[in-house]
Amino acid sequence: MSKEIGTFRRNGLVLLTSIVCIGTLIAGFVLAIIAERDAVNIKNTRKTFTTVATGEWANAQFPRLHKSCNATDVDFLTRTMNETMEVASYAKEQLLVKGANDTIYKRWFGDGELYDVLGVVDGIANMTKTDVLLRCDDVDGLCAANPNYYAGHHREKADAETVICDYFYESRAWLSDICANGTLKDFPPPRYAGIDMIHRYFHVSFINLDEYIGEYTEEVEDVLDLAKSNSTFAVRNVDNYLYYLADVYSSDKISGGCLGLDGV
Ligand SMILES: *[C@@H]1O[C@H](CO)[C@@H](O)[C@H](O)[C@H]1NC(C)=O
Ligand SMILES: *[C@@H]1O[C@H](CO)[C@@H](O)[C@H](O)[C@H]1NC(C)=O
Ligand SMILES: *[C@@H]1O[C@H](CO)[C@@H](O)[C@H](O)[C@H]1NC(C)=O
Ligand SMILES: *[C@@H]1O[C@H](CO)[C@@H](O)[C@H](O)[C@H]1NC(C)=O
Ligand SMILES: *[C@@H]1O[C@H](CO)[C@@H](O)[C@H](O)[C@H]1NC(C)=O
Ligand SMILES: *[C@@H]1O[C@H](CO)[C@@H](O)[C@H](O)[C@H]1NC(C)=O
Repeated sequence: MSKEIGTFRRNGLVLLTSIVCIGTLIAGFVLAIIAERDAVNIKNTRKTFTTVATGEWANAQFPRLHKSCNATDVDFLTRTMNETMEVASYAKEQLLVKGANDTIYKRWFGDGELYDVLGVVDGIANMTKTDVLLRCDDVDGLCAANPNYYAGHHREKADAETVICDYFYESRAWLSDICANGTLKDFPPPRYAGIDMIHRYFHVSFINLDEYIGEYTEEVEDVLDLAKSNSTFAVRNVDNYLYYLADVYSSDKISGGCLGLDGV
């Protein structure tokens, strides 16, 4: 009897061990399937922008596009990516050639450190961005909730994701029209698609280095003030970059640029 119980116990143990083993195996399969599905999801996002001219960055990378972006969206966003590179190339060239002793530099960065600015401009153009995802599906409903106002938004729930709203396509202009739509005061830099995209990159933590670059101030007068009185933060403020990029670019295309501010 006791032997039988012993056998029973031993068999029970073997059975239990087998169940645990099989369970682990099944869990492993399930995890593998989930991982595979995620991998497939990433593969299913379009890896586009191969046609974008990367300028001086031979191997620059771009965000991925969610499959919710249709062909029209993709065309618009491809041109947008081109313009992020175009505007960054101009800025980098100016920074390398003129350094910090330049009217436009001083206007937006005061006596801020050249190497900070150079590093940020290089970073936004050339940092690895394939983990950044642009999606066109208004997944959080914020585009619909803010019609004719939200051109896009960073996703609180998914740091690497940015939603592009339909209003983006309606409201954003091309660099070729710089100054044609109004001065930079009336038609501020984020109204240009490529510059706006750079602004959106800055919302992603690994690009803003956990708020090293942040939105400290936004109105043009405050942005100019920051450069004059607080250059340590001017070189860390998103809008100082956006104005600098637009000012450098427009001043090169249009004599005198189109700042639209007196006495600056
Ligand atoms: C940055 O640019 C250089 C020069 O074009 C290129 O070789 C490098 O691969 C780029 N880095 C990334 C992360 O794209
Ligand atoms: C693509 O989507 C946009 C809205 O995001 C829509 O206005 C447009 O008509 C769509 N184009 C095509 C070809 O489906
Ligand atoms: C990108 O810009 C280059 C020139 O800067 C141009 O030749 C090319 O056609 C553009 N591509 C797209 C997709 O706009
Ligand atoms: C800065 O530029 C001004 C005007 O172009 C020039 O007179 C001055 O010598 C320059 N300063 C330095 C430190 O290069
Ligand atoms: C900007 O100006 C150009 C040229 O005048 C025009 O075609 C375009 O529609 C304008 N874009 C916006 C968003 O106002
Ligand atoms: C500079 O700006 C930052 C961000 O707005 C602020 O926290 C800091 O106190 C300012 N420093 C000075 C000296 O004004």
